[in-house]
Amino acid sequence: MSDKCFIEIDGKKYELPVKKGTIGPSVVDVRDFYKNTGHFTFDPGFTSTASCQSNICFIDGDKGTLLYRGYEIEQLSEKSSFLEVAYLLIKGELPTKDQFTEFSSAIKNHTMVHEQIRSFYNGFRRGSHPMAMMLGVVGALSAFYADSANVNDPKEREISSRRMIAKVPTLAAMAYKYSIGQPFVYPDNEFNYCENFLNMCFSVPAQKYKINKVVANALEKIFILHADHEQNASTSTVRLAASSAVNPFASVAVGFSALWGPLHGGANEAALNMLKKIGSVKNIPEYIKRAKDPNDNFRLMGFGHRVYKNYDPRAKVMQKACHEVLEALGKKDDELLKIAIELEKIALNDDYFVQKKLYPNIDFYSGITLSAMGFPTEMFVVLFAVARTSGWIAHWKEMYSDPSNKLNRPRQLYAGSTKRDFLDINKR
Ligand code: SDX
Repeated sequence: MSDKCFIEIDGKKYELPVKKGTIGPSVVDVRDFYKNTGHFTFDPGFTSTASCQSNICFIDGDKGTLLYRGYEIEQLSEKSSFLEVAYLLIKGELPTKDQFTEFSSAIKNHTMVHEQIRSFYNGFRRGSHPMAMMLGVVGALSAFYADSANVNDPKEREISSRRMIAKVPTLAAMAYKYSIGQPFVYPDNEFNYCENFLNMCFSVPAQKYKINKVVANALEKIFILHADHEQNASTSTVRLAASSAVNPFASVAVGFSALWGPLHGGANEAALNMLKKIGSVKNIPEYIKRAKDPNDNFRLMGFGHRVYKNYDPRAKVMQKACHEVLEALGKKDDELLKIAIELEKIALNDDYFVQKKLYPNIDFYSGITLSAMGFPTEMFVVLFAVARTSGWIAHWKEMYSDPSNKLNRPRQLYAGSTKRDFLDINKR
């Protein structure tokens, strides 16, 4: 593999360095391209652009492979816990027993939020989407934790990382409780991370919540599957905001905004709403036809992916967890699951989806599973964000250990008006 390549512009030849990673595509280093050629590179949507060098997550879209720090997602979801995976993503290695004991007790001791944050929720209409609340309260953490907001201090970076991993589930559960008019439930250190989240969501003063181990175990898997995914839209948004050296809470808050979109983390909510709209297996052909119609903007939510041109490996694990949860909760005849299985079967044998390499992604089965667990559709993307906070933090910390880290400031191809003089309104 050559370590350089050439490009010719207006008869002049330029040499460009080629950088090779450990696995996956090499990159053409264009950092000096404008300085040397007077041209910008052009890649709207960043389909061919590597925004950074990273050691955290590797995806092979053609093979349907996903590695967190070199470990296959299938092994991690089967053998690890979400908190252990969060440690792996952030530190780069699986923790020893002592390291994990220290990390998980530190997280436990940061799960409570400042009591005044409770009043933020009262400003929202009861029916507000919980993500609208999360955008507000996660950013508001900046107002309470100025003692760990200095991004240039490694100690403060460590404290704010732990605070966010610990507090985001508490804020998420509070958003859920507020949206259904139930009292907030404080974190309880008797529980592990996922059990604590379930308890904060489903416990009520009148009735102690009994942890269902199958549900708690499925939530561990769901959080692991959603923890990180290379330079996806929300992680890239966090990286871009963090490049301005703003405090960590503000950087993570913008990740919530990007993730909320139905083309990204909001797809699980959209996928379940789509299954409800299809309503019955006999209506599937009509929706498949609409998804294939270039003049109809209907898309099969939960299908397709910018990187995976094969089955999303997370969707396979998600499908298994879905069956386990529905079985454990006596809902294995769930109508929506029947529609999902039939829809997947038809789509995977239809030329349109085969040609365009459109396979179910992680969002296709997660909605059915989360709904069976008792979460309303609006909470699906919030759970996605709770898990992805660990990935955002890992990328945020990686940036500060990267000497090439600088303010992200893309350029453009300008196609607007050339210079012209102002015209008084009476002359227009
Ligand atoms: C996530 O980036 C990540 O890693 C994201 C994520 C993560 O963990 O962070 O994996 C999480 O966001 C998963 C994706 C969830 N989104 C959805 O399920 C929404 C439905 N999917 C699509 O909107 C779409 O597939 C995208 C947005 C996910 C990806 O689309 P691209 O890469 O921009 O490709 P495209 O929109 O140009 O589609 C290519 C072709 C088009 O047809 P043509 O214009 O070439 O004729 O495929 C068609 C599209 O019309 N197409 C679909 C389709 N997805 C793409 N047609 C029908 N149904 C679909 N779902």
